[in-house]
Amino acid sequence: MALLAGLPAGAGEVALTSGPGSTLTTEKCLLCHDGDHIARSRLSRAEWEDNVSIMVRRGMPPIDPAERAVVIDYLVAYYGPGPAPAAGPDTLAAGGGDPVASLLTAGACLGCHQPGQAAVGPSFRDIAARYAGKPDAIAAVAAQIRNGGSGRWGDVPMPGNTMLSDADVRTLAEWVLARQ
Ligand code: HEC
Ligand code: HEC
Repeated sequence: MALLAGLPAGAGEVALTSGPGSTLTTEKCLLCHDGDHIARSRLSRAEWEDNVSIMVRRGMPPIDPAERAVVIDYLVAYYGPGPAPAAGPDTLAAGGGDPVASLLTAGACLGCHQPGQAAVGPSFRDIAARYAGKPDAIAAVAAQIRNGGSGRWGDVPMPGNTMLSDADVRTLAEWVLARQ
């Protein structure tokens, strides 16, 4: 195990593939060892869940449920049993100059939505799947992002986002609908 104490997170010799969630995963997971521990593993979702719990017992700093879900989704996508997607920008990194990331932060969207798993609200993947191929998808989804509402997925209401511009709302709607 490389001794990395005192170095910034991510300073290990083996970096993680860039993709949605890689920034947070690097911050949380590359404190004690570099990415080789992760890169040499191909684990299922259940196994990554167990692995993260073991890391918490080994002294990993606290991780809240929303962050944990982002990290697990990232690990399953890039180091899971299936073929890994191509490297790309970390669209979930907060404040990284990515316009979608700052809108997601502004609307606290990730407090209620996760990429691949239902939380308070439906997962972005399920939303994209439900609207796939529907001609009015962007308008329907944009209206809910703007005004909030309930009854499309269940009884839990989503709050509205009056502070976002029409262009911002449309950007978010298009982004969510492309999450398949
Ligand atoms: C507090 C330090 C610490 C943090 C933070 C940490 N790990 Fe570990 N990890 C360890 C130690 C200690 C080992 C076992 C010794 C070794 O192999 O270097 C280990 C081993 C591993 C292994 C090899 C399998 C095993 O259980 O030995 C994997 C995979 C792994 N870590 C993944 C992760 C992931 C994913 C994260 C972030 C969610 C993470 N680690 C965060 C300390 C940590
Ligand atoms: C407080 C929790 C909460 C927050 C914050 C939140 N949502 Fe939601 N969201 C929900 C819930 C609950 C639903 C399901 C509502 C329903 O059943 O109609 C939902 C539904 C949705 C849908 C599906 C709409 C449809 O037409 O089916 C989209 C898209 C969406 N949210 C995007 C966002 C975006 C983007 C943000 C940030 C700007 C956000 N949400 C913030 C809880 C939240």
